[in-house]
Amino acid sequence: MGLVSALSASVMVVFYLFYCAYSSRISSPFAPKPKVPERPRSRSPDAIIIGVKKGGTRAMIAMLNLHPRVIAALSEIHYFDREENFAQGLQWYLAQLPKAKSSQLLMEKSPAYFVTPAVPMRIYRLSPKMRLILLLRNPIDRIVSDFMQGLHRKNGQAIRLSDLSAAQLRQYQRDFRRRVTFRNGSLKASVGLVRIGLYAKHLQRWLKAFPRRQLFIACSEDFVSNPISVLRKAEHFLGIDKPTKFPWEQHVVPNPKNRKFFCLRSQSDSSAKIANSGSLKCLDDTKGRDHIPLPPDLENKLYKFFAPQNEELFKLMGQKCNWSKER
Ligand code: A3P
Repeated sequence: MGLVSALSASVMVVFYLFYCAYSSRISSPFAPKPKVPERPRSRSPDAIIIGVKKGGTRAMIAMLNLHPRVIAALSEIHYFDREENFAQGLQWYLAQLPKAKSSQLLMEKSPAYFVTPAVPMRIYRLSPKMRLILLLRNPIDRIVSDFMQGLHRKNGQAIRLSDLSAAQLRQYQRDFRRRVTFRNGSLKASVGLVRIGLYAKHLQRWLKAFPRRQLFIACSEDFVSNPISVLRKAEHFLGIDKPTKFPWEQHVVPNPKNRKFFCLRSQSDSSAKIANSGSLKCLDDTKGRDHIPLPPDLENKLYKFFAPQNEELFKLMGQKCNWSKER
């Protein structure tokens, strides 16, 4: 009898152990949890394209956004530079950004950030580790580009040089001169068109808030002529070149209608971020506008004015851009 009850007790123990082992697979708090896909959530960005206006910022964010690990706000948010937006607070800002997973790099671009004094410290207070991208264009080409944008907006259509009469061109040149010089011929250094080009002054402010290594600076001219090389460097700077580098050459291809610029080809898989997956998308006619030629005396004056500014900038940057007149 004793043997029988000992046997049945051990059978019960064995059953109990089996039961525990089985049930622990489904309910133990220590069992590995089944993987639930992470939901994108609202958070502050990891990187910001801060400028410069007319430096190629639209093309840059659109191209970076092709990268599977990047998620970018494609319209300009102007949170840190516009008081009425900044006053709305962080929740307002976060609501303007797309939601992102932790593995994604969240970005925005607002080129006015570069030249607005309050912005560097505002960004630093939000995130001292923020990575900043800056494209700098020859300040004189930048002024003309900005001026052409103003004309386009005023006229409601792009100005084509080939459609202008000699009288119209002269009129635009006179308007340009009036915008950037006083009657006595001296430059209006504080007018927006010119002031934006005082890059050294603006950059100094950023370098008071952030270490140089947190800024990726490229010359806009290099980005226009060889975007892939600049994108590869940016990818490394952003830390998204591992475990595999993105095949930029498959997605950033010369514009068949205008060899000066490149277009975007989205990925043909489900992670495609551009409508018409696999198709070619070029920037619209608000980018790559015609520039009026400047009267030589005014052009020389601008070059003389910006030369020392640019030298100061190159020292701060620790690199140079080819902005000499003889390009
Ligand atoms: P232009 O219109 O003077 O040629 P932003 O996007 O910062 O406003 O800059 C506009 C500038 O982006 C354009 O100035 C153009 O030179 C430059 N750009 C760079 N890459 C481009 C691309 N792939 N397509 C069109 N414009 C590009």
